[in-house]
Amino acid sequence: MLVVLLSLLALLLGARAQHGLHWTYSEGALGEVHWPTHFPSCGGKHQSPIDLQRSQVRYKPTLKALRLTGYGPQEGKFPMTNNGHTVQIALPDTMRMTAPDGTLYIATQVHFHWGGASSEIRGSEHTVDGVRYVIEIHVVHYNSKYTNYLEAQKSPDGLAVLAALFEVWDDTENIFYTNFISHLSMVKYPGQTTILHGLDIRDMLPKNLHHYYSYRGSLTTPPCTENVRWFILAETVKLSRSQVWMLENSVLDLQNHTLQNDYRKTQPLNHRVVEANFKCSALI
Ligand SMILES: *[C@@H]1O[C@H](CO)[C@@H](O)[C@H](O)[C@H]1NC(C)=O
Ligand SMILES: [Zn+2]
Repeated sequence: MLVVLLSLLALLLGARAQHGLHWTYSEGALGEVHWPTHFPSCGGKHQSPIDLQRSQVRYKPTLKALRLTGYGPQEGKFPMTNNGHTVQIALPDTMRMTAPDGTLYIATQVHFHWGGASSEIRGSEHTVDGVRYVIEIHVVHYNSKYTNYLEAQKSPDGLAVLAALFEVWDDTENIFYTNFISHLSMVKYPGQTTILHGLDIRDMLPKNLHHYYSYRGSLTTPPCTENVRWFILAETVKLSRSQVWMLENSVLDLQNHTLQNDYRKTQPLNHRVVEANFKCSALI
């Protein structure tokens, strides 16, 4: 037991040392308006997230569907951690994504952004025509030409994130989230890790993987490096009201406050063009 406690403490201290600064999403001295002071890229011109304005999106029917391999049901042990900013699951390098230009990316982790600070506050990072969704999932990948994530993270063509937005579907439980949600209580405190036995990210994504928005942006957390190709799926994931509530109310941040509203404000587009391989100008 002591060994477990000591290793958790080491993990927590390690995480703090690595970040150096305890950046936050709130108003304080290290709140998001002050990120650029400590992490210069956060003040750049190609930041994420953004508002996806459908009338401005360039329809590009030639953009091929993403090719996802190893995303289906997998046996094994997958560490799930509360890092004080989100809940993150480590992914095996057998999960891969091929971008429309043929670049092969290797998955490294998946995490979530959510709201919950009041019952009506939603927490997706990307918005669509100004509308914020309840939750956003990010599957983070690095370019396979680099040996690992840390090396890729420093490179201009290093990263790609596959994202999806969530909607509430009343009382219909999404059974593909049951295992993840039931483990949240095991990672209540920052630095805690639990193990998921088996994982199926394919089922945690929307059914339709063909239609997506794409643009070039950044990490949405410090250091905000501008080397991310974003692929945001057009279809949403549906969770029940109580599943959303569980994600919004189960884990604590570094101050031992309920970890809520862990999303960054949308950033200026600054002449970038968002492309989509589906017609999205019409109101649905
Ligand atoms: C958070 O709560 C845990 C358990 O009560 C305690 O061990 C820890 O010191 C607290 N951390 C802070 C920053 O208050
Ligand atoms: Zn994220």
